[in-house]
Amino acid sequence: MMTEKRKSMHGQWSSRWAFILAATGSAVGLGNIWRFPYITGENGGGAFLCIYVLCVLLVGIPIMMAEVMLGRRGRQTPINTMRTLAREEGRSEWWQCIGWIGIAAGFLVLTFYSVVAGWTLAYVGRAASGFFNNTTAEDTRVIFTQLISNPKSLLIWHTIFMALTMMVVSHGVTAGLERTVRFLMPTLFIILIVLVGYAMTTEKFVDGLVYLFTPDFTKISATGVFIALGQAFFSLSLGMGAIMIYGAYLPQKTSIASTSCIIAFIDTFIAILAGIAIFPIVFTYALEPSEGSGLIFKTLPIAFGQMPFGQLIGTLFFLLLVFAALTSAISLLEPTVTWLIESHGMSRIMATLSSGMFAWLIGIGCLLSLNVWAGSTLFGLTFFDIIEGFTTNVLLPLGGLLIAIFASWLMSHKSTTEELALGNSTLFSTWKITLQYIAPIFVVLIFLNAIGLLKFGS
Ligand code: PFF
Repeated sequence: MMTEKRKSMHGQWSSRWAFILAATGSAVGLGNIWRFPYITGENGGGAFLCIYVLCVLLVGIPIMMAEVMLGRRGRQTPINTMRTLAREEGRSEWWQCIGWIGIAAGFLVLTFYSVVAGWTLAYVGRAASGFFNNTTAEDTRVIFTQLISNPKSLLIWHTIFMALTMMVVSHGVTAGLERTVRFLMPTLFIILIVLVGYAMTTEKFVDGLVYLFTPDFTKISATGVFIALGQAFFSLSLGMGAIMIYGAYLPQKTSIASTSCIIAFIDTFIAILAGIAIFPIVFTYALEPSEGSGLIFKTLPIAFGQMPFGQLIGTLFFLLLVFAALTSAISLLEPTVTWLIESHGMSRIMATLSSGMFAWLIGIGCLLSLNVWAGSTLFGLTFFDIIEGFTTNVLLPLGGLLIAIFASWLMSHKSTTEELALGNSTLFSTWKITLQYIAPIFVVLIFLNAIGLLKFGS
């Protein structure tokens, strides 16, 4: 079948910007504002940022282009897209495993993502009720600990967030998303700038910047490099079929290269802004960069408690973060839902209900592992840590690696040039060589290094 004739049964974006907005909505979320600062703090600051940016440039952007390209060529759910393309290219149908890995990863990420989005929801109410006025670092630690040690309230917030996600997905994602993200991104950006403005007034602003921007490679371990790679996949929404499914709704004429670069740039910029806002507060208030997953919840409330209009700005910030999480969460659920619709003939509502409820159920395991099951660990890791670590650091890079191999080695030159429409330019060759050699070698080396089969770095 000619790709021009192939149409997605789930709709199409109205324009290139609609796609950029939706994909940015998927990329920008808790990964940038919650996860990036805390893992940067756990893995040595500047050196981690350096490696992270390298991962985005050398692995993230080329794989994002490949993922969008595969999605648009197949125009179906990732599993069916990969099966169709493998057949068209005369390759084994086993390549549909890319779709399976993606669906499994996206689904598993959603389980803990919803729990953390629930923390954010809880903080909207706290910020609005003036809870953070003149709060100290000690208070913010206590407030956060109280929240995560209370399974009932975590369950309520997790349930509300998952219900919101299911509501949006059950209506079909192309409607409404564009408008939401168009408003969301600029507002989130402005609030982050306000927070950076506050950080500039703190005593240790320069220390924060030095920490974030001066790489000290003795501070990063092999595992840190591995985590940076996983974070690049997580933050750009790669290796999960989310970008592939959005690519399936992309108009044929849109340039995949420039849109991918724009999305990666916005995503990285927002993460760095969050870092600039957070680390000066960490140092000024004698918190630890390695506070862990509660980092933003322990730092930013101090800023809101002190700045003028902090109550309003804090409420808006957490509310926007909930929306940013929502636009990401719907892209996590969408691949599973479209697969149930396409392959099992379910209605959209039934598909959303069944997959959303299943993810909600596993999410309960994640939230209980923060309190009641905190003592049940495997190699020192809780259920939450295992799901977060396994999906982000293993499944996503693995999915990405297979995507890189399929797109650059197994698809014909004709198909890739036709779809990317870069001609035989240097840009196309750079993309192809990066995907054929640099990205796979990079991913494999990092993997081997992390599991101790290779030794480089400290
Ligand atoms: N990129 C999102 C974030 O940074 O919060 C999380 C995410 C969304 C990951 C969708 C993967 C995905 F498919």
